[in-house]
Amino acid sequence: MKIIVDGVNGLLGSDIYEVLKRNYDVIPIYGQKDVDLTDYKAVKQFVQKNKPDIFIHCAGLKDVDVAQKDPLTTYNINTLATRNIAVTTAAIKSKMVHISSAAVFDGSLDRPYCEFDITNPVNIYGHSKYLAENEVKIYNNHSFIIRVPLLFGHNGRKETNPIYKMKKRLENGESDLLYTTDQISNPTYTVDVAKAIEIIMITDAYGTYNVGNSGEASRYDYFKYIAEKMGFDGTRIKPTLMGVKLAPREKKVVLDTSLIKKAFNIEMRSWQDAMEECLNYFE
Ligand SMILES: NC(=O)c1ccc[n+]([C@@H]2O[C@H](COP(=O)([O-])OP(=O)(O)OC[C@H]3O[C@@H](n4cnc5c(N)ncnc54)[C@H](OP(=O)(O)O)[C@@H]3O)[C@@H](O)[C@H]2O)c1
Repeated sequence: MKIIVDGVNGLLGSDIYEVLKRNYDVIPIYGQKDVDLTDYKAVKQFVQKNKPDIFIHCAGLKDVDVAQKDPLTTYNINTLATRNIAVTTAAIKSKMVHISSAAVFDGSLDRPYCEFDITNPVNIYGHSKYLAENEVKIYNNHSFIIRVPLLFGHNGRKETNPIYKMKKRLENGESDLLYTTDQISNPTYTVDVAKAIEIIMITDAYGTYNVGNSGEASRYDYFKYIAEKMGFDGTRIKPTLMGVKLAPREKKVVLDTSLIKKAFNIEMRSWQDAMEECLNYFE
């Protein structure tokens, strides 16, 4: 089976590529320099040349404040590129796996979100991901939409990896690192997302699925936990509130994963167990 994975320079795409290449013939698109996914002709040419059985699309723009400042670029990368892939893969009857985000929800529910809850993004990033889901549904019937919450991993670019960034600041002797107590999600390991996709993508149970590790944490709890696991003094991590940011944020979105258990028998471990494994790569 031949699979294209895009976004391989990134946090998630790098691990999807690493996991899948053990068992499949995987063609990576590392980034825009390989194929600019916003360019319809370039995408069409690449897809027609390689004729994948499955195209896994995880390239995107994920910084919510950058997205808020520059909606046009954001819609091009997150929404138009997704449409380009959906249209060109459908034309050769290739399956598509699209990575979406918990940011399609507004965080007003006081329980975990299931796949069928009402979407209502609160910022441009979330809206671009919401529209991208629609493009996939319109243009490729053989598609899976995988919604993920806040991700962690050890691959991808170090300079944008939140764990590396925190570790560097702690090593440089900084204290009073501020993280919010009022933004809550189920942090999720990229390798676990990749393994779930490996199971889901070979089925024909097309549709939208949440994938996330179990449990929940505020950003403050999460980074304090990581700092302590790395052997730093956890009191150097300080709590703060979100306050006013350029892009509004959803306060609490935890993804319920009972549907992937029911449909594919995928049991997600706790984020703390997954983090234990991930942190081995940060030594
Ligand atoms: N990280 C999270 O916490 C999180 C949470 C929820 C959902 N997601 C979603 O998960 C997916 C992966 O996120 P990530 O964290 O892995 O992102 P990332 O680390 O920022 O990587 C983004 C990737 O997209 C590529 N890319 C950007 N523009 C492109 C273009 N025009 N043409 C081709 N490639 C392009 C980048 O390559 P170059 O820069 O080299 O061009 C890079 O490989 C995204 O869809 C994101 O919305 C992420």
